Amino acid sequence: MAEGHRRLVAVSNRVGPLNDEGKAGGLAVGLSDALKRRGGLWFGWSGNTSSKGTFSEATTEVEGNVAMATIDMSEEELQGFYYGYANRSLWPLLHYRLDLAEFDRQSDRIYRSVNQRFAARLAPMLDDSDLVWMHDYHFFYMGSELRQCGFKGKIGFFLHIPFCSPEIFTALPSSHDIVRAMLAYDVIGFQTDTDRRNFANFCVRELNGQKLPGHRLQVGDRIIVADTFPIGIDAPGYARFAVSPEAGEHEEMVREIAGDRLQIIGVDRMDYSKGLVERFRGFERLLEEYPENRGTVQFLQVAPLSRSELGAYVELRRELEELAGHINGRFATLDWTPLQIMTRGFTRRALAGIYRAARACLVTPLRDGMNLVAKEYIAAQDSDDPGVLILSRFAGAKAELPDALIVNPYSTDDVARAIQRALTMPLDERRRRWETMRDAVFHGTAAHWCDSFLDRLERSGRDEDGPAGEALAEAHPS
Ligand code: ADP
Ligand code: F6P
Repeated sequence: MAEGHRRLVAVSNRVGPLNDEGKAGGLAVGLSDALKRRGGLWFGWSGNTSSKGTFSEATTEVEGNVAMATIDMSEEELQGFYYGYANRSLWPLLHYRLDLAEFDRQSDRIYRSVNQRFAARLAPMLDDSDLVWMHDYHFFYMGSELRQCGFKGKIGFFLHIPFCSPEIFTALPSSHDIVRAMLAYDVIGFQTDTDRRNFANFCVRELNGQKLPGHRLQVGDRIIVADTFPIGIDAPGYARFAVSPEAGEHEEMVREIAGDRLQIIGVDRMDYSKGLVERFRGFERLLEEYPENRGTVQFLQVAPLSRSELGAYVELRRELEELAGHINGRFATLDWTPLQIMTRGFTRRALAGIYRAARACLVTPLRDGMNLVAKEYIAAQDSDDPGVLILSRFAGAKAELPDALIVNPYSTDDVARAIQRALTMPLDERRRRWETMRDAVFHGTAAHWCDSFLDRLERSGRDEDGPAGEALAEAHPS
């Protein structure tokens, strides 16, 4: 590929960090691993609000070969764009939670205007030879807005979260506007084939589009590529983290506290999509149905707070704390607390050590774009004594990790049975399953994800694809 010839410009709501700081979120982790390798510009929100909002001066920070340029949002922009449209409308909807989705005109308007403002601020920093790569559901309109600003180069888009089925997506009042705007992108990437198919089916059924060979879609006379590019982690780097002194200290600490007990771990942002309530109930069922585990296992759930201004997240925290109290109250003894929940962040090295100390890892989201925790757990294991991954059938990672113990996270019995199986699994089976998964995690790295997406973007507009940079007038919502 023509790596190094064109500058990469990545755009996402959250920018950085590029170091080992504790920071919960798969996008930041995957993208920083990829950007550090290739270099380029990373543009997005500063994480701050100010009265000037998106008109504030851009702050630029350079770390090695990556420049990070960020702008503020005003309080009104933050509320309407991030808390409102992105996280009250799009997030629940795309995670199949129509029951939690709220739609209102005001946040829809602010979401569009923030997309327009970010495009207007980015445009002067660009050259038409740049490869622009936008990320996630915060910026569905931004490619189309960048075209309105006159940018003629290639623009790709990657969706880190699921794309729900068209039956659900059409409930969004602006669903047609959003997908039409997305046609301004040259390449759209999804985590799984299911997400890609859902998007293609929306284009066919709702916009009279047509599927073309080579994962291309035609709507009107616009042809774009919509393909699957599963995100990964820097697996060799992560495996090195897991044997670093900091990881060793944390591994030791967890092992010491566990003593003879087997440790189970869960690591997730505190989000309703992660299936934490169902997971806790599964653990409770384990203690009910398989009483030999009472006093001999302990479960640590690391769950950093996320989006805690939103009602659904406040309610989730209350429910989880209540449920943890109920389970501990029911089963704890003077010298044993079955379940511990912790909301603090860890550095990536520390987390790698904690993973390594755990006999089983519960990754049981009700829906997840990919889930990088599953891949990190595999990369962190000791080849002589690897732990067992219990993985939801609704996590994107399931496609690459079928050798995990696959569960239906909605079934308390299924989760309890899988935990029991993990705790009693013989070493040779643990090794065999782990080796296949390790190969998959080391093959599908962040570097591989980045290279294959950018390679497809470079090639778009050539060969059989439609003309790049040609945004249809209809692709721009009125
Ligand atoms: P999502 O993007 O929905 O949060 P992922 O599982 O894909 O879910 O990514 C979560 C990322 O956040 C992982 O890299 C994980 O290590 C990191 N993370 C989660 N919890 C913590 C924590 N307490 N401290 C540091 N990093 C965390
Ligand atoms: O990976 C999905 C994702 O929504 C990212 O886009 C986001 O950065 C991360 O989870 C954490 O969410 P937030 O940025 O809302 O804290």
